[in-house]
Amino acid sequence: MSNVEMPCGEDGMTKVGNILLTGGTGRLGSALRKLIPELVAPTREELDITDLGSVQKAFEHYQPRVVVHTAAYTNVVQAETEKTLCWKVNVEGTRNLVRTALEYNPHFVHISTDYVFWGDKGGYREDDPVGPVRNYYALSKLAAEEVVRVLPRYLIIRTSFRPSPWPYPRAYTDLYTSQDYLEVIAPEIAQALRNLKRIPYTTLHIATERKSAFALAQRTRPEVQPASRKEAAVPLPEDVSLDISRWRALSRSWNPAPGV
Ligand SMILES: NC(=O)c1ccc[n+]([C@@H]2O[C@H](COP(=O)([O-])OP(=O)(O)OC[C@H]3O[C@@H](n4cnc5c(N)ncnc54)[C@H](OP(=O)(O)O)[C@@H]3O)[C@@H](O)[C@H]2O)c1
Repeated sequence: MSNVEMPCGEDGMTKVGNILLTGGTGRLGSALRKLIPELVAPTREELDITDLGSVQKAFEHYQPRVVVHTAAYTNVVQAETEKTLCWKVNVEGTRNLVRTALEYNPHFVHISTDYVFWGDKGGYREDDPVGPVRNYYALSKLAAEEVVRVLPRYLIIRTSFRPSPWPYPRAYTDLYTSQDYLEVIAPEIAQALRNLKRIPYTTLHIATERKSAFALAQRTRPEVQPASRKEAAVPLPEDVSLDISRWRALSRSWNPAPGV
């Protein structure tokens, strides 16, 4: 087991504690492990979030001071036909972690998605009403957020990211989002984790400016072809862009621009 130093913003002191990461083999989890090598990231064999006993064993062993929950069922299209598995991982899995966290009282960081919003108007703020949702994956992530909110100490980070370069030959011109490439989003989430105690919110949007998925895709794959979200195998929102002013103000306050 390893420890990680996390700055404690309240008194400026650095405190040492165990940070347990779920989903450490996933896209975001792997990126976070590179950025914060001290993260404790058991594999699914050791920590299967759908198995309460396995979760309890891991908490007992690692005694986490912070839990960063990135593990999830993330295949949005397949979730429509694998509803039971999607619910089991995203909702029951989160519930197992939360039940155990109630006993150990770590600061619980839950990674969520812009899809918790209906997505017709964009510019969603952290305290805008969530739902209804467009697809089953989104429903499961919305339910998971609500499960997390029973905890006394939690931070829900809503985000969205893609691997770089853009992995598909086509991209939607009529789907607006604040998502960005993992290499942009992961360091921001890592920064939030390093400053967890200085975040006076329970919900935070970490993303970038509003743009179409096509515009984002063109940045890393210039030959990408335009497509419509209406062609997707699953209903998708037209504008789930997020208001990120809360995050911008926080990170600016930690890293003021030179000369400011
Ligand atoms: N990708 C996006 O665009 C996006 C957008 C918004 C929000 N998010 C959220 O961001 C988080 C990370 O997404 P991602 O794309 O990085 O995920 P990912 O690459 O699909 O990885 C999922 C991770 O969850 C683990 N996992 C699945 N079932 C598990 C179980 N029963 N017990 C323990 N671990 C389990 C997987 O482990 P194995 O390797 O063993 O399968 C893997 O490490 C998720 O909460 C997702 O909802 C993602």
